Amino acid sequence: MSIKKTGGLAGIVAGETAISAAGGAHNLEYRGYSIYDLAEHCIFEEVAYLLLYGALPAQDQLDTFMERLHAQRDLPKALKGVLEQIPADTHPMDVMRTGVSLLGNLEHESESHDQYAISERLLATLPAILAYWWNYAQNAKRIECTSDAQTIAGHFLTLLHQKPDVRLHVRAMHVSLILYAEHEFNASTFTARIIASTLSDFYSAVGGAIGALRGPLHGGANEAAMEIISRAKNPDDAAQMIRQMLENKDLIMGFGHRVYSEADPRNRVIKDWSKRLCTENGQPMLYEISETIEKLMWEEKNLFPNLDFYSASVYHMMDIPTPLFTPIFVMSRVSGWAAHIFEQRSNNKLIRPNADYTGANGLKFINIEDR
Ligand SMILES: CC(C)(COP(=O)(O)OP(=O)(O)OC[C@H]1O[C@@H](n2cnc3c(N)ncnc32)[C@H](O)[C@@H]1OP(=O)(O)O)[C@@H](O)C(=O)NCCC(=O)NCCS
Repeated sequence: MSIKKTGGLAGIVAGETAISAAGGAHNLEYRGYSIYDLAEHCIFEEVAYLLLYGALPAQDQLDTFMERLHAQRDLPKALKGVLEQIPADTHPMDVMRTGVSLLGNLEHESESHDQYAISERLLATLPAILAYWWNYAQNAKRIECTSDAQTIAGHFLTLLHQKPDVRLHVRAMHVSLILYAEHEFNASTFTARIIASTLSDFYSAVGGAIGALRGPLHGGANEAAMEIISRAKNPDDAAQMIRQMLENKDLIMGFGHRVYSEADPRNRVIKDWSKRLCTENGQPMLYEISETIEKLMWEEKNLFPNLDFYSASVYHMMDIPTPLFTPIFVMSRVSGWAAHIFEQRSNNKLIRPNADYTGANGLKFINIEDR
């Protein structure tokens, strides 16, 4: 049998999904709905409901869903205790992974706490897992894990900043969470599906997905992009820096995509928000620097910004510390991961590909004392 060799499984169709279509004629749709409509008209909870339960909620369904999420925001005492033990210099993605893992020890998957209940509990608690640890590690402050904010977007910003957040920022956060929620067979989602395919538990699948998302070629790119943007003093400086990086064959994080070849459809939405927030905050320079980098990357490499590039300035304008960027991706993508775990389990087949062996054969065995 001949095996087609493709680095990193590029271009390989590895299964079927009815959750989202990325690339091709549909650009990007979640369960048939364009991300442009969802980002413009929905709050994140509507999109999470769509992903988890397969259809957009009616108002009463959305209300009860949000009531359930609201009621389970607090963290178990044991989890708070563990979060307090995690050193301040830990990467927040490790905190998210630990938080999910510990929750799996405290509230393990069972008939009475099934995959739907766990998905909702994770959506409800991930903001507090991050904000509780962050506030404790930075300021030795034990924050309340509940808030009056109605939505996950507002709740997270309120817990993080310890004050009710600006309306515009809450809306921008909804848009960001919607755009990050789902993206077909990306590395972290595929990881979750592989783990689910072994009939492992829900928390293991999500924990593994967090590990995959952490890397800068995947979710970690938004933090890495911020690091690049913030090094430039002005657009000219940015152009010089990027030219030098390209000459050094460095990767410019936040550019390029495995699935798209001309543009990331999510970019135009987040780019608009970046412009709006940078202008409103009186910091147009950050946007100008970002746009200069975008133009140059297209001229020099035919590469376009992906969702992570302008997300960096959007979060920065909301006063979100850079190390927390990728964990926000987790708060959102957990909805997509959950939908894929459900789908994998509903028609399961162990995911176990073959490899093309390139090592030695038929070596003569040598006893340990003779090696
Ligand atoms: C997303 C990504 C991993 C896709 O990778 P891929 O499909 O495997 O594409 P490749 O890495 O093979 O890239 C093809 C070429 O473009 C170059 N390239 C791709 N992305 C680049 C980037 N961001 N900066 C500079 N060069 C880049 C590669 O170096 C390679 O050049 P070569 O042919 O001279 O070796 C890649 O574009 C990347 O590393 N981007 C930066 C990280 C990032 O933003 N990740 C978030 C994705 S949503």
